[in-house]
Amino acid sequence: MAADLDGKTVLITGAGRGLGRAVARGLGSAGTRLILLARTAGQLEEARALLLDQAVPAQRIQVVPADLADEEQRDRAVAAVLAASRVDILVNNAATVEPLGPTAGIKAADLRLAFEVNVIAPATLSAAVLPGMLEAGWGRIVNVSSGIVASPAGMVRGNAYATTKAALEAHTVNLAAELRDTGVTVNAYRPGGVDTAMQAWIRSQDPGRIGTGLHERFNRSFAEGTLITPERSATALLARLGGDDTGAIWDVSTVPASA
Ligand SMILES: NC(=O)c1ccc[n+]([C@@H]2O[C@H](COP(=O)([O-])OP(=O)(O)OC[C@H]3O[C@@H](n4cnc5c(N)ncnc54)[C@H](OP(=O)(O)O)[C@@H]3O)[C@@H](O)[C@H]2O)c1
Repeated sequence: MAADLDGKTVLITGAGRGLGRAVARGLGSAGTRLILLARTAGQLEEARALLLDQAVPAQRIQVVPADLADEEQRDRAVAAVLAASRVDILVNNAATVEPLGPTAGIKAADLRLAFEVNVIAPATLSAAVLPGMLEAGWGRIVNVSSGIVASPAGMVRGNAYATTKAALEAHTVNLAAELRDTGVTVNAYRPGGVDTAMQAWIRSQDPGRIGTGLHERFNRSFAEGTLITPERSATALLARLGGDDTGAIWDVSTVPASA
């Protein structure tokens, strides 16, 4: 890891599995205090157990089960986190890839839910932790995006996902400009094709609903072994985390595998 993050408090959303959990584990040896948020309490407990196995002291791990799509739960979770301490590093990683399918059939409520989880939750979490970061004169916010933003036509029938991730990147770059010279940086991270539950869920969907093109593409990349591990992707994110970059769109492919 590039920077000294000892003593920093890190809030990671979607930390129960996949990339978020790998980021938490990657930070386990960095002396950080880790706050793990997701809906599924059992997966958060699994993540906690893995960190304890890594010899992370129990008092440095806090689990916060909450649904980021639910404003009340989200506000309650943030209040509980901030009552314990300032957040120095926020990794907005949780996301939904739904709704998938022909755009003509997408319901407004489902689109709203995607925006709530993928855009509004990261933006409001950032707004909530920012006063503490600004007062400290140091903070790091990373919004986990997707390569879909670079080629939005590459995921036909994933319109909500493409739209929300593009909005998240615009939010990131705009906020970074607003915060320039404050010591608080804001960057987006495109993690690559990662072998996680999100990928498995897409592969398991009915090709009639999500389209044979999308179904075949996700099954092919899995079968051909082109997906990377969550640990590999997390390493690339963590290599950049402590640096002074801001307003950047980091991509896993631009960080050497040995980083
Ligand atoms: N995997 C890939 O190939 C890939 C590619 C490009 C971008 N990404 C991005 O990478 C990030 C991590 O994805 P992943 O592949 O690790 O996915 P994943 O395995 O499905 O993990 C997603 C995490 O987010 C949590 N989450 C989802 N909805 C939530 C909600 N409403 N409230 C709170 N937590 C919620 C999940 O936990 P619960 O279900 O328990 O809440 C889980 O911990 C996402 O931003 C994704 O868009 C992934």
